[in-house]
Amino acid sequence: MTKYEQIKKDLLGSPKTWLITGVAGFIGSNLLEYLLKLNQKVVGLDNFATGHQHNLDEVQGEVSADQWAMFTFIEGDIRNLDACKKAVSEVDYVLHQAALGSVPRSINDPLTSNDVNISGFLNMLVAAREQGVSSFTYAASSSTYGDHPALPKVEENIGNPLSPYAVTKYVNELYADVFARTYGFNTIGLRYFNVFGKRQDPNGAYAAVIPKWTAALISKEEVFVNGDGETSRDFCFIENVIQMNILAATATANEESKNSVFNVAIGDRTTLNTLYESIQNSLNANDVKCKSKPIYREFRAGDVRHSQADISKAQSILNYEPEYRIQQGIDKAMPWYIRYLK
Ligand SMILES: NC(=O)c1ccc[n+]([C@@H]2O[C@H](COP(=O)([O-])OP(=O)(O)OC[C@H]3O[C@@H](n4cnc5c(N)ncnc54)[C@H](O)[C@@H]3O)[C@@H](O)[C@H]2O)c1
Repeated sequence: MTKYEQIKKDLLGSPKTWLITGVAGFIGSNLLEYLLKLNQKVVGLDNFATGHQHNLDEVQGEVSADQWAMFTFIEGDIRNLDACKKAVSEVDYVLHQAALGSVPRSINDPLTSNDVNISGFLNMLVAAREQGVSSFTYAASSSTYGDHPALPKVEENIGNPLSPYAVTKYVNELYADVFARTYGFNTIGLRYFNVFGKRQDPNGAYAAVIPKWTAALISKEEVFVNGDGETSRDFCFIENVIQMNILAATATANEESKNSVFNVAIGDRTTLNTLYESIQNSLNANDVKCKSKPIYREFRAGDVRHSQADISKAQSILNYEPEYRIQQGIDKAMPWYIRYLK
C-alpha cells in the first residue's frame, strides 16, 4: 500500500475537519468533492469572485446526501479577517486556495491581485495561527521561478518575478517563512505548475489554456497560440494536486516538511504545439471531430518561456507519486468538457 493509500484509509477511519478557501473554484471544488467522498467534514469559504455556485452544485450531485451534509459553506472574503476567523474555527487542516489567479489579470489590475493574494493570505495566516490549526497548506505557484533559467525547476533556485501575480505568490512564501520563524507557525506551500481538469473555467478573458482551447475547438472557433507554440509547460492533472494537498495537510509529524515549499507537477515538459495536438486527438477520440490549425500571434507579456518541475523533493519527503501524466489527464477531463460545453 502506498503512503497516500494508507493516509486515505486512516482518514476514512478517523475523519478530520478541513477548511478549503476558494472552494467554489476549480481546484477548491475538486478538493471538496474528493474529501467529501472520503467522508471528511469540510468547511468552505468563497466570495464567488471567480468561482461559481454551479461548481458546488455539481459536487453535490457527485456525493451522497450524507456526505453533502458534512459540508458547510461560508460566503465571505479573505480580505475580511473576521470571515477568515469564522472559517478556521473548529478546523483541523486548512487548504488555502483562494486567490485571484492569472498573470494577465494581475498586469491589468495589480491592486486587486495584491489585496486578495497578499492581504487575504496574511489574514488567513493570522486567523489560522490564532486558532492553532494542525496544519496549513497553501497554493503557491510555479510563477515564483520567474526568470531563473535553469530547467528543471528546483525549489531553492528562484529568479525575479515576471508579473504582479508572481510577486504576490512569492510574498505568500515570504510571509509563511516569517510566520514559522517568528511564531513557530509552520505551513507547507505547494507550487502548482499549470493545473488542469474538470471544472476549470473555460470562459472569460483569463481562462487557462487547456479549457480555453478545448472550448474553442468544440465550438469550431479559432484557437490562438501566444508566440511560436514552442513555449512549454509542465501540465499537471488535478488528481495529482489533490494527492499533494492531502499528503501535505496530514504530514503533521514529518519534521522535514515543516515550513517548506514543494513543486507540484509531473516533471514533464509539453510544448503548446504538442498540447494542441493532444486536445484535438482526445476530442476526436470522443467523437467531436476537429482538425484545424491554430493561429499564431505575439508572445504574451509576463509569460515564462519554459517550465518544468523537478518533483524529487515532493517524492522523497512527502511520498508523492503522481498518478496521471498529461495525456491521461486530458483524456479523463475531456468527457466532462464535452458535456459542459455542448
Ligand atoms: N490553476 C492553476 O494552474 C494554478 C497554478 C498555480 C497556482 N494556482 C493557485 O491555486 C489556487 C486555486 O486556483 P484555481 O485555478 O482553482 O482558480 P479559481 O479562480 O478557479 O479559484 C479561486 C477561488 O478563489 C475564490 N476567491 C478569489 N478571491 C477571493 C476572496 N477575496 N475571498 C474568498 N474567495 C476568493 C474565487 O471565487 C474562486 O472560487 C489559487 O491560489 C491560484 O493562484 C493555480
